[in-house]
Amino acid sequence: MKNIAIFASGSGSNAENIANYFADSDYAQVTLIVANNPNAYVLERAKKLNIESITVTKAEFMAADTLIEELQKRNIDFIVLAGFLLLVPQKFIDAYPGRIVNIHPALLPKYGGKGMYGDRVHEAVVAAKESESGITIHLIDGDYDKGTTFFQATCPVLPTDTPHDVAEKVHALEYKHFPETIEKILHTLD
Ligand code: GAR
Repeated sequence: MKNIAIFASGSGSNAENIANYFADSDYAQVTLIVANNPNAYVLERAKKLNIESITVTKAEFMAADTLIEELQKRNIDFIVLAGFLLLVPQKFIDAYPGRIVNIHPALLPKYGGKGMYGDRVHEAVVAAKESESGITIHLIDGDYDKGTTFFQATCPVLPTDTPHDVAEKVHALEYKHFPETIEKILHTLD
């Protein structure tokens, strides 16, 4: 059984969707949720899902060693960033090479980089009058929104769409594709 840890900073709707996807799997399971904000709603979701959670400060996260130990104690094989807003320090990447995946709510390399997260991304997409947006699922390599892209899916952006409309379409793509893409990536590591 492969053990997945999900790192999240906010609502955690993707974290919940991924946990539910693997709930009946005999191949992988979500064993741990890590939040960098004690008020993140993802912690409520973790309780409801009966999944252990750890809250870290930004300083603890950046120092990395203690959290990496906690991950190793729980035999975590793979890390999923689902709405996680801190840059992952190199120590994590060294501890989990090719085993940390991020989802970005746009078609990278467009609308990525520091400060580009959540609604800000959708606002930028609408402001630029893009005709499409989408999701990018990629391995992380130490810079914001860089690293090998594993999967992209697109959705149309209509001239009348608000950032909220785009967010809804992007979330729908995330819920549909992120869990099965994680599973596919896990299989490439077998
Ligand atoms: C998701 O749309 C995810 O793609 C985005 O934050 C949202 C989190 O929603 N991630 C980023 O913007 C990272 N740069 P959730 O907490 O409900 O899963």
